[in-house]
Amino acid sequence: MIDKKTYDLLNVQFNKELYSSSLYRNMSALVASWGMPGFSHWLNCHSEEELLHAKAFYDYMLSQDVIPIVTAMPYPEVKAKDYLTITMEAKEFEIKTTQDIHEIVDYSHKSKDYATMEFLQMFVREQVEEVDLFNELEDKFKLAKNGGGIYVLDNELGKRDKETKIG
Ligand SMILES: [Fe+2]
Ligand SMILES: [Fe+2]
Repeated sequence: MIDKKTYDLLNVQFNKELYSSSLYRNMSALVASWGMPGFSHWLNCHSEEELLHAKAFYDYMLSQDVIPIVTAMPYPEVKAKDYLTITMEAKEFEIKTTQDIHEIVDYSHKSKDYATMEFLQMFVREQVEEVDLFNELEDKFKLAKNGGGIYVLDNELGKRDKETKIG
């Protein structure tokens, strides 16, 4: 059984994951309106992934015999006006999300709530991946901006197979 503060922290994070999903959905629509259906699809996939995160919090809370509640959500506003700044905005958002997750881990550690600590480990790992994902995307967009050829060439270089024999 989790304590009241853990319940509050988990419920806030459950709602933040729903917010994340809506934020990426708004980003996806904006990007589509800029004529980038590929990036729009990519962001839509990310929006779906955030829903999976929300569902994980939902399921964990129910397993701890508490009720997850969807609360009012702030407007998921996207301020960026182009594909590079939207990527940077997303990266900053994921860095903030990482801090949020770490704060809950901190509390579960202090309160010796090992089950919640264990549950949160997958989000600690997930956040490392997500920040890295947007970091890489930012680099790719920067390369593409400085001359699309470099990005295409780098993509080609990345496909090289290791040689298994000489001659
Ligand atoms: Fe998430
Ligand atoms: Fe995320």
